[in-house]
Amino acid sequence: MVCLPVSDEQLERAAALLRTGGIVAFPTETVYGLGAVAFDGLAVARIFEIKARPRFDPLIVHVADRQQLAQCVIDVPPVAERLIAAFWPGPLTLVLRKCEAIGSLLTGGLATVAVRMPSHPVARALLERTGSPIAAPSANPFGGLSPTRAEHVAAALGDRVDMILDGGPTEYGLESSIILIEPTPTLLRHGAIPVEQIEAVIGPVQRDIPPGSATLAPGRLPHHYAPHTPLRLIAPERVPMQERTEAASLAFRRVQSGYRAALSLSPSGDLRIAAAHLFDALHRLDAAGATRIDVEPVPESGLGSAIMDRLTRGSAR
Ligand code: TXA
Ligand code: MG
Repeated sequence: MVCLPVSDEQLERAAALLRTGGIVAFPTETVYGLGAVAFDGLAVARIFEIKARPRFDPLIVHVADRQQLAQCVIDVPPVAERLIAAFWPGPLTLVLRKCEAIGSLLTGGLATVAVRMPSHPVARALLERTGSPIAAPSANPFGGLSPTRAEHVAAALGDRVDMILDGGPTEYGLESSIILIEPTPTLLRHGAIPVEQIEAVIGPVQRDIPPGSATLAPGRLPHHYAPHTPLRLIAPERVPMQERTEAASLAFRRVQSGYRAALSLSPSGDLRIAAAHLFDALHRLDAAGATRIDVEPVPESGLGSAIMDRLTRGSAR
């Protein structure tokens, strides 16, 4: 028997809330999601309201199994099958042609739907008990830092959701990687599965969005994942001591001196650990009352690409 970080009663209450149109925040292996039954148009509309999310930005649908997947998509092309075999359940989202049952509010009017099968035991138990696919964006106000702990959700949206399931800190700390399957496999968002691993399964994937589809992955908006405090990407040795006193610092490996608050993502230089700490560290430094957060760039390979994607967007003004 799997031991879950939430009780049976909590899960039952969460599933009952979802089945009756409620909004439940829950942990996944990537970040916390803000969930509603995917086929419940009113509940889906509430998610957009709670997050103050623009209507053109579609949600990801979470499924427990192939049966729930079949309720969302028209078909699963061979390339998608190979990715499913390699990475599901896990942090890979596939964009496939949607079924009738998936409403156009959820997909921002697109003919496709983003789907993934999460591996987190609480997310899986919730999907099974609810008996329906669950639409869930990251549980943060639009454009803000993603939540990797239940406390982050409670602080930003606590009074606006019906329930928060606390599963502790999330494992990956970065959102899922997103691949558009047709017409050509295309990376829409760097995420918890490095693109190199995806390419090892299906060969080269396109990195640029096809022409005429700029709003295809609104997570690619230049300004996103931002703390309230201005973020600056800069090599630590370039910051004079007198510029440090009122600022905060997020280093990759070695904590920097002279700052009013300073954290390191991974003293050992491990990108996986750095990814897992990224959003929590930014949430903490954002609360430090600093004028600015100086962030040290990380190497741009493997998970480093996803970390740098979040930091670049977070620092764009
Ligand atoms: O790890 C994750 O993916 C988390 C957890 C909760 O599962 N969810 C998440 O959702 O990051 P959200 O809403 O923060 O990001 C979803 C991204 C957005 O950038 C959206 O534009 C894109 O997925 N997306 C959703 N449906 C799409 C579609 N049909 N075509 C292209 N992009 C889509
Ligand atoms: Mg998000």
